[in-house]
Amino acid sequence: MNCTIMFYVVLLSLISRVLTEKYAPYTEEQFQLWLDDWNQLTHAEMHLITKIFWSDEIASDDEIDVLESEFEKSIMLSANFSQEKLRELKKFDWRSFKDSNLKRAFLRAVIVIGDSGISDSQRVHKWKQIKSDMNTMYTTSKIIYKNKTLSLEPNLTSVFQSNRNYTFLRTMWKLWRDSSGKKLAKLYPEYINLSNEAVKDYDFKDYGEYSRSSFETNNLPDDLDEIYSQLEGLYKLLHRYVRKKLGEIYKLKNTGLLPAHILGDLWAQQWHNIFEDIKPYKNKTLLDVTSKMREKNMAPRDLFLIAEEFYTSLGLDPLPETFWNNSLFEKPNDGREVNCHASAWDFYDGKDFRIKMCTTVSMNDMFVVHHEMGHIQYYMNYKHQPFHFKEGANPGFHEALGDLMTLSVMTPGHLYKIKLIDELVEDEEQDINFLLFMALRNIAFAPFSLAVEKWRWSVFSGNTTPDNYNLDWWKFRCKYQGLVPPVDRFQDDFDPGSKYHIAAGVPYDRYFVSLILKFQFHETLCKASNHKGPLFKCDIYQSKEAGKKLKHMMEKGSSESWNKVLYEFTDGKTDKLDPSAMLEYFKPLHEWLLKQDLSENEWNCNDYLDLKNNIVHGYDTNFASRQTSKLIEMLAFLIVLFNIF
Ligand SMILES: *[C@@H]1O[C@H](CO)[C@@H](O)[C@H](O)[C@H]1NC(C)=O
Ligand SMILES: *[C@@H]1O[C@H](CO)[C@@H](O)[C@H](O)[C@H]1NC(C)=O
Ligand SMILES: *[C@@H]1O[C@H](CO)[C@@H](O)[C@H](O)[C@H]1NC(C)=O
Ligand SMILES: *[C@@H]1O[C@H](CO)[C@@H](O)[C@H](O)[C@H]1NC(C)=O
Ligand SMILES: *[C@@H]1O[C@H](CO)[C@@H](O)[C@H](O)[C@H]1NC(C)=O
Ligand SMILES: *[C@@H]1O[C@H](CO)[C@@H](O)[C@H](O)[C@H]1NC(C)=O
Ligand SMILES: *[C@@H]1O[C@H](CO)[C@@H](O)[C@H](O)[C@H]1NC(C)=O
Ligand SMILES: [Zn+2]
Repeated sequence: MNCTIMFYVVLLSLISRVLTEKYAPYTEEQFQLWLDDWNQLTHAEMHLITKIFWSDEIASDDEIDVLESEFEKSIMLSANFSQEKLRELKKFDWRSFKDSNLKRAFLRAVIVIGDSGISDSQRVHKWKQIKSDMNTMYTTSKIIYKNKTLSLEPNLTSVFQSNRNYTFLRTMWKLWRDSSGKKLAKLYPEYINLSNEAVKDYDFKDYGEYSRSSFETNNLPDDLDEIYSQLEGLYKLLHRYVRKKLGEIYKLKNTGLLPAHILGDLWAQQWHNIFEDIKPYKNKTLLDVTSKMREKNMAPRDLFLIAEEFYTSLGLDPLPETFWNNSLFEKPNDGREVNCHASAWDFYDGKDFRIKMCTTVSMNDMFVVHHEMGHIQYYMNYKHQPFHFKEGANPGFHEALGDLMTLSVMTPGHLYKIKLIDELVEDEEQDINFLLFMALRNIAFAPFSLAVEKWRWSVFSGNTTPDNYNLDWWKFRCKYQGLVPPVDRFQDDFDPGSKYHIAAGVPYDRYFVSLILKFQFHETLCKASNHKGPLFKCDIYQSKEAGKKLKHMMEKGSSESWNKVLYEFTDGKTDKLDPSAMLEYFKPLHEWLLKQDLSENEWNCNDYLDLKNNIVHGYDTNFASRQTSKLIEMLAFLIVLFNIF
């Protein structure tokens, strides 16, 4: 039978069940029945919907024959289903439940369907449509430069990795924003309104509060600020170091801030691509193994084999054959418009798991592969859980797992073991080089991830209104990251929308949480694998003890509170997010940076933010002339005030 038709049959049967009010009188026992039903149907539904989405993203119709209208119909049916289920869910008085597992199941169910509260089906449709349109606009954005078309991947990504022409990068930076974010600016306010409407039914103040509920605390913004305050000193030192080095290269003017376009990627989110230009010890061997990989004629698939071997060396399961048969490893060159943002997929049938990635053979992509495979490992290990527990202990756990592996894989010791570097030189200079590279990836990412989510929370809560979307974006980015745009930005620009996770509506707090967690995990696993010596040299490769701990953690899914899972995982060390492992990891670099002669300039963000005219000034805007115009303004004011002439 055609899958899509089967899907309707399943859904129609379930909607008719809903109407019988089967679950009254809403006791604990009835809730268990509700859960069983919901799980069975949701698994079937998600399996089919995921297949449809997959076909849509890789623009293939071999798997299911989906017409545009059928696609929409399925989405709407699924929305109706969740909405009915949310309505039923609200009738259970979960606070009176005695079984704590059921209580937890209830709260997880709220997280899964808590955003299904829009009752008007046209508005539901509108919401889905806007989300899908923004996603498509972003993923198909291209820029035209001198009659040539450049797409984000691989063209622009590689430009920002390797080009060092200041004005050229500035042009590319602006063109990308003109052709992506700016185009979806008009859709965003309504997307925000509808998102908020979707969660009001379950008494969330706004969509931000709903999405934070996965972290099971009412205090997430303050908690994250508190954690960041412990990392800020190190970030500011790193920033000053980078500013000094880039200042020499680009003859930057003497301000404490940095322009956002010369840090090695389009968003200045991770800065490791500029490592070679600014590394302290020039005569040390390259860390970048990209050329070695190409020399060995590796193909994209080989990167997946390397990653799989790392996971299995810990005693974790190998990937099933379906993974190798069904994943997409390379950007197809048959003209299909594929969404190239790397992602890992669970098809909810306990068998089918896939990665979609336009892999290039490079060191960076090797780490991305390890990251995505971490998601797959999580899916495989919690496949026996009911639907509502098929998640990480919190969303940060899911993101941390694969990145945790890269902390081992990136060590020179490991790269030597797997024959991607020829010679292992280990001395203090090499260590500082290595730690600087890691800091450019990790420490630099902390304020970026915080700025992104702070902005989004501010938009959902209504503190940031559409008029101020772009202005506030730069307020946060300057405040946390010490960055300003290279050129003037105006009210009709929409720079946040030029970042995938904003356009696609993917929460970003999880990446900050994951950054902190992965160092906590690393510290614990290094201890379990009997590592001796500094944390940054630890490689958990082949440690069955480490694998056992990870497996135990992943198998739980989200069936226990993450604090409890973390407490057990760290052998009772802590049940909280704690940056001390991260600080310990970077300690030698921190001490080294303190000894460098780094000038201490203020971050005068307000100089760049013209609130009155709603303009964010560019780094390269001529300050002298702005100062003069300020003088003239003041003079005019004095003239009026004192009637001087
Ligand atoms: C969803 O439910 C509404 C009424 O609640 C109905 O009008 C609409 O046709 C349903 N949509 C689908 C696709 O069944
Ligand atoms: C771009 O193409 C147009 C028409 O195809 C041509 O007139 C123009 O000279 C080209 N510009 C450049 C910079 O090559
Ligand atoms: C963009 O990348 C593709 C794939 O590598 C390549 O074929 C194309 O020439 C690149 N475009 C430009 C303008 O460099
Ligand atoms: C830098 O790029 C610009 C175009 O944006 C070009 O005119 C200039 O010649 C380039 N400079 C160098 C040194 O290549
Ligand atoms: C969003 O909601 C606000 C407040 O209710 C309203 O003023 C505004 O017009 C809405 N915007 C859109 C695009 O729906
Ligand atoms: C590398 O350069 C440093 C100075 O930056 C020097 O002290 C050291 O001896 C050099 N090492 C090698 C192997 O050339
Ligand atoms: C994977 O592909 C191979 C070769 O095309 C085929 O023989 C095999 O049956 C497939 N396995 C699965 C599980 O789909
Ligand atoms: Zn991820």
